[in-house]
Amino acid sequence: MTARTAEGWGATPALPATHFTDGRIYRDDTVFAEEQARIFAKVWKIACHESEIPNPGDYRTAEQAGVPLVVVRGEDGTIRSFVNVCSHRGARVVHEPSGNAKHFTCFYHLWSYDTRGACIAIPRPDAYEKAGLDKSKLGLRAVRTETRLGLVFINLDDAAMPLADWLGDALEAFEEVLTINDLQVFTYQHATIDANWKEWQETNLDLYHEYMHVALRRTQTNPAAMAERELIVYPNGHIRGGGAGYKANYKDYKGWEGRSDSHALKGLTAADFRFTHVFPNSAMNARGTVMRISTFTPLSTHRTRIEWRGLGPKGQSPEDWKLRSKHYAQYWGPFGRNVPEDLLAAELCEWNFHNGAAKYQVLAREENMRGQDDGFLRAFYAQWGKLMGRSASDPFGDGRKNQ
Ligand code: FES
Ligand SMILES: [Fe+2]
Repeated sequence: MTARTAEGWGATPALPATHFTDGRIYRDDTVFAEEQARIFAKVWKIACHESEIPNPGDYRTAEQAGVPLVVVRGEDGTIRSFVNVCSHRGARVVHEPSGNAKHFTCFYHLWSYDTRGACIAIPRPDAYEKAGLDKSKLGLRAVRTETRLGLVFINLDDAAMPLADWLGDALEAFEEVLTINDLQVFTYQHATIDANWKEWQETNLDLYHEYMHVALRRTQTNPAAMAERELIVYPNGHIRGGGAGYKANYKDYKGWEGRSDSHALKGLTAADFRFTHVFPNSAMNARGTVMRISTFTPLSTHRTRIEWRGLGPKGQSPEDWKLRSKHYAQYWGPFGRNVPEDLLAAELCEWNFHNGAAKYQVLAREENMRGQDDGFLRAFYAQWGKLMGRSASDPFGDGRKNQ
């Protein structure tokens, strides 16, 4: 008999504990609450790119661990972030996703805050005197904010390690690209998908699913190049693809052949494919002529909001922008040959882990950290386990009784 009984289907895989995940980590509410508290409330996340808030008063809203945030460039040019919650009765202060403001006024009772987070105005303040309410102590809650290579990172944890320590060398593949090119965000998309955030992240870390994408199958799955691909894992769970095997051959792929080196970002050729993922929810990809930053925000066990930003060099002609937009959209646009297919993969897995029909995921490919090794997935779950104090393959310490 080759098909399995119900008991066999739910039985623990005969694999090392690092080589599979227990499906309950995708649907359990306790696990989700702990992820918010132990991971997302403590890690650095890319909130935006500096080019999105170039002028004093420019702001972007963001979210981490369920907490609404606003990132703003002050009059002094410094970028700061705050919890987007009014000191008075807890209303959200800033409602637009982006804009420019000299100060922020809460819509409810019109308390106002400046771009340094100080409370600067309270209507009819005299009535607070008796109770001793002191305006100077009513500022917004500041959130740690650091900028690296033009990327604005935020962290809700005042005690978190400095960004430089958290990243280590993880951004080395983009060090040059992000500094010698004067980049700007030229396109932005977001979507809320029906999948657990880890299922979405798996599509970013899983190299073996390249064949699902017809575009990748045709342009970059040359078996000879697999041995040239390195899977590099950094401390704190960050990863990047290194080595000469990450290139795409567009010349015979109809409609994609217009990617020439003359349009490549400085430091790259048109064929170059680079990616770095900062644990757990920020990722950078470059495809020769364009770059993309993606971040995501878990909303519930089965809902995840994803944001994508496309970057290209400032000061291009309209024709150039058109071409770069096309290159971006071919991979990552709403009708592109990459993201929509990944969304489908994440949602189809989610459906079966959510309803319990699927029990385990297998992460057992070993190619000496080359080619399509599952090493990135294992590295991700090793870091997840470290921060959670749980094993992804035995999350409840019950001998993996996943029935
Ligand atoms: S809740 Fe913001 S002013 Fe009252
Ligand atoms: Fe994919």
